[in-house]
Amino acid sequence: MDVLLRRGDVATRPAGALALGILEGTTTLTGAAAAVDRATRGAIRSLLARRDFAGRFLEIAVLYPRGLRARRVILVGLGQRGELDTERVRRAAALAARRARELGAGTLATVAHGAGRGGLDPARAAQATAEGSRLGHYRFTAYRRDGGAAPLKRVEVLERDATLARALAPAVVRGDRWAEAVCLARDLANTPGQDLVPERLAERAREIGRGAGARVGVLGVPQLERLGMGAILAVGRGSVHPPRLIVLDHPARAARAGAAPRAARGRKGTPRSQPTVVLIGKGVTFDTGGISLKPRENMHRMKYDMAGAAAVLGVFSALPDLDLPFRVVGIIPSAENMPGGRAIKPGDVVRSMDGTTIEITNTDAEGRLLLADALGYARRFAPAAVVDLATLTGAITLALGHLAAGLFTGDDALAAELGAAAETSGERLWRMPLWDEYAPEMRSDTADILNSSGMREGAACQAAIFLKRFAGDLPWAHLDIASTAWATVDRPHEPRGATGWGVRLLLEWLRHRAEGPA
Ligand code: BES
Ligand code: MN
Ligand code: ZN
Repeated sequence: MDVLLRRGDVATRPAGALALGILEGTTTLTGAAAAVDRATRGAIRSLLARRDFAGRFLEIAVLYPRGLRARRVILVGLGQRGELDTERVRRAAALAARRARELGAGTLATVAHGAGRGGLDPARAAQATAEGSRLGHYRFTAYRRDGGAAPLKRVEVLERDATLARALAPAVVRGDRWAEAVCLARDLANTPGQDLVPERLAERAREIGRGAGARVGVLGVPQLERLGMGAILAVGRGSVHPPRLIVLDHPARAARAGAAPRAARGRKGTPRSQPTVVLIGKGVTFDTGGISLKPRENMHRMKYDMAGAAAVLGVFSALPDLDLPFRVVGIIPSAENMPGGRAIKPGDVVRSMDGTTIEITNTDAEGRLLLADALGYARRFAPAAVVDLATLTGAITLALGHLAAGLFTGDDALAAELGAAAETSGERLWRMPLWDEYAPEMRSDTADILNSSGMREGAACQAAIFLKRFAGDLPWAHLDIASTAWATVDRPHEPRGATGWGVRLLLEWLRHRAEGPA
């Protein structure tokens, strides 16, 4: 499916469906809705007059009026004007695209919702409309014989004014690419564990990274041993699929253009002085819990325990669009957490890259082990910022439900930046405490630290405080995305299953670091 901006008129543009957003309490139609109403001799007005449609947020109606080149009109409610924001536009667009697909419309024409007079900034509305359209249209069909209603061939965001159309085109392209990156992350996290083992995740990372102009390195067991990454190795030991550390390295714009002076370059052509942002994604391709086996209920979902890795790969796929003035490094520690004759056992002690010894009390607290070594590896880039994404604890969902991911950081500036990106992207974060008083619970009698205190209370905070020890003085933030990476109920912009959460948040954050506030 393509999503593109097209100069054209809602009344005369041929399409399988035409989507229009209507504000609640609309009495006088304006803009595109007025044009459609005129061409259809009052089809919308009569609907509103009969109160068959009030424009309540996500209310939907399908009309088959004469007088248009579109075969049907999908009206979607935008809610009250005062509550309209880009997230509502995104969801309304998503709902319309989903319905158009279900109706087998083939092509969908739409306007940038909410961009009319006195409304949202047209570029942001256009981006949100494009994003929402692709997000709502998404289906995971790779394993189905019958994929349901055929996908749309095209979504066209129409704009009549030539100047505005030219100005909005890049916003639509951006919204489309970003949503495509989200869908890539969804596909990865929806893929069954049998087909996405660490070796395969590494292959996918190679394809995705190279396609985006990044260098991709994959460390196997011998290299992990040489680096002393005992924590990653420990998690992977029970599986026949050995662990991997995947490293993606995307240079800054200046380096690509060859603008940096030779003397400033490091070994492999990357300028040494380039500020670097590191993104870490937990890549447990399946989490059985290991010897500390998980209960059977919902264990099948643990294929999404690599959603952090998927989000990082989604971000990399869209990096060419951003043209960032800094280097981005992605680090994905990947393993399959299985019980088995060689698996680590509770009571075993492992040594992480930085020399810390860890007593394993619970083999199901494996994510923090992977991240401990990944954080150790991140140091070599002397990063300006490190953000990790991990489906780390069930406890974060008990705390926040599915509406936000937990943000843990001691860096207030970084928290503010991520908070702003969360606001713009609609991917919510909620700041959680990172108090050192959680640390004594993790004291071990045998090793430097336990991997799990065995206490359920504050488990998400304890996991974060474990990570903090390995992050040391890095400017670091941890996002516990166990709450948001999987949707158990359908929402307009995310069908049940993997959500691809974090891709748009991180892209917005990177964009913001490069270009300033939205
Ligand atoms: N991958 C799980 C966390 C998880 C649980 C993600 C449910 C998504 C849904 C993680 O590896 C884990 O097992 N965490 C344990 C930690 C505990 C042993 C301290 C948990 O949350 O129970
Ligand atoms: Mn686990
Ligand atoms: Zn896990």
